[in-house]
Amino acid sequence: MLESLTQKKHDETRQGEALAPALTEPTGFRKRFYIESYGCAMNFADSEVVASILNKEGFGATRDVEQADLIFVNTCSIREKAEQTVRKRLTEFRKLKKSKPGTLVGVLGCMAERLKSKFLEEEKLVDIVVGPDAYRSLPALVDEAESGQKAINVLLSRDETYADISPIRLNSNGISAFVSIMRGCNNMCSFCVVPFTRGRERSRDADSIIRECRELFENGYREVTLLGQNVDSYYYVPGDTKHTGGNVQAVTFAKLLEQVALVSPLLRVRFSTSHPKDITDEVLFTMARHENICNNIHLPVQSGSSRILQLMNRTYTREWYIKKIDRIREILPGCGISSDIITGFCSETEEEHQETLSIMEYAKYDYSYMFFYSERPGTLAQRRYKDDIPEDIKKRRLTEIVNRQNRLSLESNRNDLGKIFKVLIEGPSKKSDSDWMGRTSENKVMIFPKQHFNYSAGDYAYVKTLTCTQGTLLGEIVNDVVMA
Ligand code: 5AD
Ligand code: SF4
Repeated sequence: MLESLTQKKHDETRQGEALAPALTEPTGFRKRFYIESYGCAMNFADSEVVASILNKEGFGATRDVEQADLIFVNTCSIREKAEQTVRKRLTEFRKLKKSKPGTLVGVLGCMAERLKSKFLEEEKLVDIVVGPDAYRSLPALVDEAESGQKAINVLLSRDETYADISPIRLNSNGISAFVSIMRGCNNMCSFCVVPFTRGRERSRDADSIIRECRELFENGYREVTLLGQNVDSYYYVPGDTKHTGGNVQAVTFAKLLEQVALVSPLLRVRFSTSHPKDITDEVLFTMARHENICNNIHLPVQSGSSRILQLMNRTYTREWYIKKIDRIREILPGCGISSDIITGFCSETEEEHQETLSIMEYAKYDYSYMFFYSERPGTLAQRRYKDDIPEDIKKRRLTEIVNRQNRLSLESNRNDLGKIFKVLIEGPSKKSDSDWMGRTSENKVMIFPKQHFNYSAGDYAYVKTLTCTQGTLLGEIVNDVVMA
C-alpha cells in the first residue's frame, strides 16, 4: 500500500466503490445497471453523469452486481497499478457473465480511451467501450451491444462538458458534492497520460455551474468542490451576445469562484486541482475576501528539483514554487496546503530526491498524495527518457517521502491544538454514533462528541481541538465562541 497515501481527492477507500443513490432501489426501471468507479474525483463525478444519462433511458442503478443487466467499470489509467486492478476486476465479471448470460459489461473512462478497440480484442468479456467524452452515446451503444455487436465510441471532443446534464448524486452524504467545471488538460506534463485520455481542455458554461451549485444548496448540500484537471485555467466566454448587447465578459476562475461563493454564505466552496503556474493573486485575494471559500489549496509540486521539474515539463522551478508558497502564506495566513509528489522519475539522483524532501519541509504540507513513477505508454517521458530508477530505489525513496509527510501532518495537527475551528458536520463518525465527523475550512477531519447539543449533518459547529493523531483532530464543541 505504499504506492499512494490519500485523503479526499483520490480517495483510496472509495476505489472500486459501487455507486447508487443512497436510498432508492431501482424499482420502476426497465433495467438495472451497476457502476464501479476507480481513480480521481473526476471519474466519480463522471459516473454521476453516466447514471443521469442511463436513468433517462429507463435504467436504474443498483449496488448489487448480481442483480445488474449492465455492469460498468469507470476506469483510471494514471498508473499501471490502477489498470491492473481493473483488469483483475474484469476477470471476476467474466465469471459472473458466464453464470448469467445476457449481462453486458462496459468499460468507461480513461482506460477505455487509451486502449480503444484493443479492449474488445484482448478482454473477451467486454461488450461496450466508451471514452470520457462519449457518454451521451451510451444508450445507443447499449442497444447495439444488446443486438450482439461490440459497441465502441472513444471519440474525444473539443467542446463536450455535459453542461446540461444534472448528475444523479450517487453514494452521497447529502452534504458535499463534486461539481465538474472543466474537462481535459493542455499541459502535457511529460509523465502524464491524462491529455491523451481526456483530450483538450474546455471550460463548462459558467451559468450551468452556478445553477448546479444553487440547486445543490437548495437540496441541503453545504459544500461544493469545483473539479478540473487544472481549475485555474478555467476560462469561459459566453457564446450568446444577444442579451449582453455584444459586450461579452469572459469568466475567469477567480470570477467563477466568487459567483459560486455568492450562492450562499452557508455553502462552502473548495476546488481541485491547481497548477502552480496558473494560480493567480486574483484567486488568492478572492479566497481571502470570502469566508466560505475554504482556506485550502491543493498545489501539486511533483518534485523539489528544478532539473527534474524541467524534464517533467512542469514549467516552473523550485524557486518559483517556493515563491508561490510564500505568496499564499502572505495573502492567506493559516491556509492548508497539500501536494502530489512523484518519486523516482527518470534519472532522479539522490540529491534531487533530497530536494523533494526539503521542499516538503519548506511548504509544510498538511497532506500529500505520493507515488512512485510509473511509465505510461505514449507519454512524452516514455518516448524521450529512460525509466532507469530501479524499483527498490523508487520504493525506498517513496518510503522516505511518506515518512516525512507523516511527520509533517502530525506537526501540522499538533499546531492546531487549543485552536477553535468552524466545522461543517458531514455525519456521524464511522467509529462511534455518539461522535460527529466534520471538516475544518483547511480540510482537516475533526471528530467530536455530540454531547447534549442539537446539531445535525450540514450544520456548522465551533469546535476546540483537544488532541490529535496524524490524520485527525479530536475536539469538543464550544458554544460561547469569540473567533479571532
Ligand atoms: N506515475 C506516477 N504518478 C503519476 N501521476 C500522474 N502520472 C503519473 C505517473 N505516470 C500523479 C501526479 C498527479 C497525480 C494525479 O498522479 O502526481 O498529480
Ligand atoms: Fe496530467 Fe499535468 Fe494535466 Fe495534471 S496538469 S492532468 S499532471 S498533464
